[in-house]
Amino acid sequence: MNVVTNRASDSPTDNARHLMFDDLEKLGRILVETGDLAHGFVQGADDMDVTCRDFSAFDPSRPLSGQGSGTLDALRAAKEEILPLLAASIGPRYLGFVTGGTTPAALAGDWLASAIDQNATGPEGSVNAAVEEQVINWLCDLGGLPSDRFDGVLTTGATVSNLLGLVAGRQWCGERVGVNVDADGAGVLPDLEVFAATPHASMVKDLSITGIGRNSFTKVATLPGSEETDLDDLRAKLKASDARGKIVIASAGTVNATDFDDLTAIADLCAAYGAWLHVDAAFGLFVALDDRRAHFLAGIDRADSITSDGHKWLNVPYDCGIFLTRHISVLETCCRAFAPYLATKAEGNSYINRGVENSRRFRALPLWMAMKAYGRDGFAAIIRANCDQAADLGAWVRTHEKLELLSEPKLNVTMFTSLGDDDQNRALLEKINATGKLFMTPTIYNGRFGFRAAFSSWRTQDHDLVIIKQAIDSVL
Ligand SMILES: Cc1ncc(COP(=O)(O)O)c(C=O)c1O
Repeated sequence: MNVVTNRASDSPTDNARHLMFDDLEKLGRILVETGDLAHGFVQGADDMDVTCRDFSAFDPSRPLSGQGSGTLDALRAAKEEILPLLAASIGPRYLGFVTGGTTPAALAGDWLASAIDQNATGPEGSVNAAVEEQVINWLCDLGGLPSDRFDGVLTTGATVSNLLGLVAGRQWCGERVGVNVDADGAGVLPDLEVFAATPHASMVKDLSITGIGRNSFTKVATLPGSEETDLDDLRAKLKASDARGKIVIASAGTVNATDFDDLTAIADLCAAYGAWLHVDAAFGLFVALDDRRAHFLAGIDRADSITSDGHKWLNVPYDCGIFLTRHISVLETCCRAFAPYLATKAEGNSYINRGVENSRRFRALPLWMAMKAYGRDGFAAIIRANCDQAADLGAWVRTHEKLELLSEPKLNVTMFTSLGDDDQNRALLEKINATGKLFMTPTIYNGRFGFRAAFSSWRTQDHDLVIIKQAIDSVL
């Protein structure tokens, strides 16, 4: 390999360049040492404290030095200064949010994506766009969706996928009444009305980002004791609306109770009232792989757009969101990026025209690797096991004299609480998490404070449930 050899220079920037070329010569060793470090962390995630509660040892205000010391030295620093202060969120007992682990194949794909560092904008000079196209088709297969009707794009997460749903939905609504929001701005459709019963926090944020306004959606009632859309209320509100543009946000797996809307009935209402149907199925889409639960998704193939995520239940590393739509040309109208230097004659999808980012990571590769390595059955195994684990914890809570289930686990989430008031339970959650054996997040359900355990990792096994129950018992 040709390497810059002028080492006699006194210039600090020349010396810095030498460091980089030195590192290139040592790349094999660097990757092996990085692999060893990563391997140790990933394997150790079973036994380390699930979250780190004191990272005061790390000083964010420390100034950057002018001179670096090369990658091997930086690796040693990362090992000492950063790795001991991390959460074991890839481990089996991290039950916070909806946090998937990383399967070995997805990890390998992600590393490869970094090493080959394609800018996954489109088909110009690289197969990456064709791989993304194949992955989108395979995702449709996993979600039980017809890939001849749905197309899409990989995003940074469900938040951005929800954003694309709003943007494409608004454009479609405008086109139906002869106005062009893409060209002329949201002001040409001032009477757009968004209907939602249980929008995820990310959707509310997206309402702000799109300029619709986070308080400007029509709140639809939920069924008593549930997070599911009340169809009668939705029907009445759609009927009463004289807005020219209507978007209905439905849920396939709410983040708390994992409730599913009756998507067939909502699709019927949307058809009757000319509304765009967006379904947030950030993790719920993949219950299509569990024959005991796949029926929850009936009607989802009639959605105009669907949000899902790879970094949740598919256990690929952050970040990887999924957006699917039956109206890809509407999305491309809103997201196209035109400049002479971006023009391409190459055949294939230009993903630059389907999402927020122009420059994009080769996000399809970790998914592709995981799909190749484990097939549909591998993903089905994760989904089924996590649902069984949530049910197992739920059954234990139900018979526990000091605990109370807040709702019956339907999917991968168990929500429960303890005796005592909300403040006492808040303190108890702190204590449970402080055991270091598991991590749960707080929630409010039907007005009560609770603990939310979301099973989303391929690594969780029966013995982890034993550890989880023992840890909870130890502080009750
Ligand atoms: C139903 C639902 N929608 C959207 C999101 C936002 O996902 P992300 O963090 O990938 O943007 C989540 C995250 O938990 C979710 O559960």
